[in-house]
Amino acid sequence: MTILPFTPPKRILMGPGPSNVHPRVLEAMARPTIGHLDPQFIKLMDEIKELLRYAFQTKNELTFPVSGPGSVGMETCLVNLVEPGMKVIVCINGVFGGRMKEIVERCGATAIIVNAPWGEAISPDKLEEELKNNPDVKLVSFVHAETSTGALSDAKTLVEIAHKHNCLAIVDAVTSLGGVPLKVDEWNIDAIYSGSQKCLSCPPGLSPVSFNERAVEIIKNRKHKVQSWFMDINLVVSYWGSASKRSYHHTAPINALYGLHEALLLLQEEGIEKSWQRHKTNSDKFIAGLKELGLETFVKEGQRLPELATVKVPEGVDDAHVRGRLLNEFNIEIGAGLGVLAGKIWRIGLMGYTSSEKNMDACLSALKQILN
Ligand SMILES: Cc1ncc(COP(=O)(O)O)c(C=O)c1O
Repeated sequence: MTILPFTPPKRILMGPGPSNVHPRVLEAMARPTIGHLDPQFIKLMDEIKELLRYAFQTKNELTFPVSGPGSVGMETCLVNLVEPGMKVIVCINGVFGGRMKEIVERCGATAIIVNAPWGEAISPDKLEEELKNNPDVKLVSFVHAETSTGALSDAKTLVEIAHKHNCLAIVDAVTSLGGVPLKVDEWNIDAIYSGSQKCLSCPPGLSPVSFNERAVEIIKNRKHKVQSWFMDINLVVSYWGSASKRSYHHTAPINALYGLHEALLLLQEEGIEKSWQRHKTNSDKFIAGLKELGLETFVKEGQRLPELATVKVPEGVDDAHVRGRLLNEFNIEIGAGLGVLAGKIWRIGLMGYTSSEKNMDACLSALKQILN
């Protein structure tokens, strides 16, 4: 068998992530690799931290990209803040809240679940009720933008309620960062993680995180060692911290970080508010276009993610057949439903560089041809 260099097809990535990568990001990633302790690289790391603070709207000193996908960011926040024997409230309204529960339990803690139907936001009242029932809970975690359903929860209010009951709040912002208003300092979020492959127009593999001082103090004063060596923030800071002398922790993914730096520069050039607005304006137009095709949205108005439309698969239509034709005939990738929503919804992403008039038109016209 002759194996040739891999040349990927040019797809329009309109699934739940990854989204299309900006050409400037791809170009940045092709630049020569230098050492991970080279003074020039340390300068780039400092700039990435500064640009991430802008993206997260925070002044948190401990803000950096974890080397690994969003799940590693999720695990980093949880393994550092959860200790064995603790009680943690995990809000679940889709697949990713379920993943948080799994990690909390693997940390030796008890997860108390606040459920919401898939496709709906987490109810602040239900969270408050569970906090009243469990005064010994110390931590609340929830997903801001649930990518498995397309529902947006009210992060500001959920964090306020957690704090009212003396809990810290961990927020999953994998799909929300850059795509929907998110203000870490103003909303007093204690720990947050995201992913590079959604609204940041970057390839997958990096997970920006940020911890406020309250969270850092708690991590410094843990009773037990963090169960993961790689994700222990107390150790990672030797490399990503602010000391002038950095030491080896792990070999950073150098070229991926060139890409993230460029993606964050693009976000700064556009302006974070403008990026939120672009996602919203395009989403409104796209949803109107889907409705014209007779398609029905899965999430109700007001709780919908602007960066991810979820649409009910019409009666009698073969979900996989439509997605297959979109991919093979039109080079457009859209996402299937996950878990209980498999075969029932399509997830159509308009994230980051993908969120443009050109891509929306291409998708709507392809769907029209296929559904006709
Ligand atoms: C809300 C949310 N959290 C966590 C993750 C996990 O991220 P990753 O697949 O990069 O590990 C995803 C991935 O899609 C996600 O959408």
